[in-house]
Amino acid sequence: MKPIEDRQIKEDDQLYVLHSWSKQKDVDPKIIKKASGIFFWDDAGKKHYDMCSQLVYLNVGHNHPRLMEEFKHIGEVPLSSPGFATASKAELARKIIEVAPKNMAKVFFANAGADSNDHAVKIARMVTGRYKIFSRYRSYHGATFGAGNLSGENRRFTVEPGLPGFIKFETPYLYRESIHFDSEEAAAAFYVDRLNSQILYEGPDSIAAIFMETIPGSNGVLIPPKGYMEGVRELCTKYGILMICDEVMAGFGRTGKMFAVEHFDIKPDIMTFAKGVTCGYSPLGGVIVSQAIADYFDGHVLMTGLTYSGHTVSTQIGCATLDIYKDEHLVEHAAEMGDVLAERLEQLKARFVSVGDVRHIGLFAAVELVKDKQTKEPIIAYGMDYGKDTVGLMKKFVGLLLNQGFYTYSHESSVIIAPPLIITAEQINEAMDLFESALAMFEKEYLFSDQKLMTP
Ligand SMILES: Cc1ncc(COP(=O)(O)O)c(C=O)c1O
Repeated sequence: MKPIEDRQIKEDDQLYVLHSWSKQKDVDPKIIKKASGIFFWDDAGKKHYDMCSQLVYLNVGHNHPRLMEEFKHIGEVPLSSPGFATASKAELARKIIEVAPKNMAKVFFANAGADSNDHAVKIARMVTGRYKIFSRYRSYHGATFGAGNLSGENRRFTVEPGLPGFIKFETPYLYRESIHFDSEEAAAAFYVDRLNSQILYEGPDSIAAIFMETIPGSNGVLIPPKGYMEGVRELCTKYGILMICDEVMAGFGRTGKMFAVEHFDIKPDIMTFAKGVTCGYSPLGGVIVSQAIADYFDGHVLMTGLTYSGHTVSTQIGCATLDIYKDEHLVEHAAEMGDVLAERLEQLKARFVSVGDVRHIGLFAAVELVKDKQTKEPIIAYGMDYGKDTVGLMKKFVGLLLNQGFYTYSHESSVIIAPPLIITAEQINEAMDLFESALAMFEKEYLFSDQKLMTP
């Protein structure tokens, strides 16, 4: 491709490109001119700390030298359709199974996160012969029709009226729970009991799967209370329901473990993945199934497929990416750096009146802002995201962060912090200094000017 001037790129972008989840007139994209590690530089020459790894996928950072080198060897292998065996597909499947929970046996490759979830739903229905699928409010599983129906927030609304048999239940969200629990275990027992009732009302024999983001990410890094995941696992086992964990965002080291399920004493029946498997250097996703499910398909037709299942380029990049996690000890590093980030986040909560809650696990974190710490009034009311609040306070705060060179995004009243796993302690501290400057400005300019709260 011959070089194109920035002005031309922006003009063509505005004329011909539809941007996701946005009113097109509000879109004014920058161009990334140069990128390295946790940094990128935009077309104005400004340097940014990429504190959300683009969309929480660039775990190995920008322009990783080993992946750039791998691209030079891409053309050496002929393309082949899914019916062929290829070195990279076979090797990547083996590598994934080697790092997955011990009960996992085989991988079905898809293109990205949403379609992986669609295939997981189909697999669960085939294996159980049941049709209902439980998933949670305050979750996001993707934008395809099936994954959209799984999602429990307003990005689902364009696929409604929804698919019959897709049932929602509550995600534990202790910060905003009106009931006071004496312990996390008590909270977990409450939510598991509620889920049990819902299963009974819906008829356990009709439920194929309970589908959950292991740790809901874009809805604000909602870490399950102690005992909750184990309780859900027990219900699944009791009623013959498959437990499906969506590890698209939380998987591949993000939480300081290879998969987030490892934080709990559970083994899901199915796990879905995408993002971190190639860190976005080439699109890839997939479904990992247990030995029991793999055995089932020995004698039954797997009635699903994709033109690009196990695509040669993406699986080759996936193999190189998994080698990087191992050779650079990125998962262990994420756990260590998570402690550094956690300390800064807890300080933030103690120091700033607008910080209602901070939630963090490894390098997966959210800062939830409030107008009032006592009443917990959110910065924007629920459901006011996505264009309805374009001039509102969260957009202003994210703008202030951007001016500081701290690149990330928000959802509802939470700001996501999920930098590449290669980040150093020094870089975390530098970035968090920028965050604090932006927050101080935000409180002064928008929240407490005139000693009273300003509304959007
Ligand atoms: C937990 C989770 N599942 C699924 C998806 C959808 O993935 P994709 O956008 O690759 O289809 C996302 C995207 O952010 C996600 O965070």
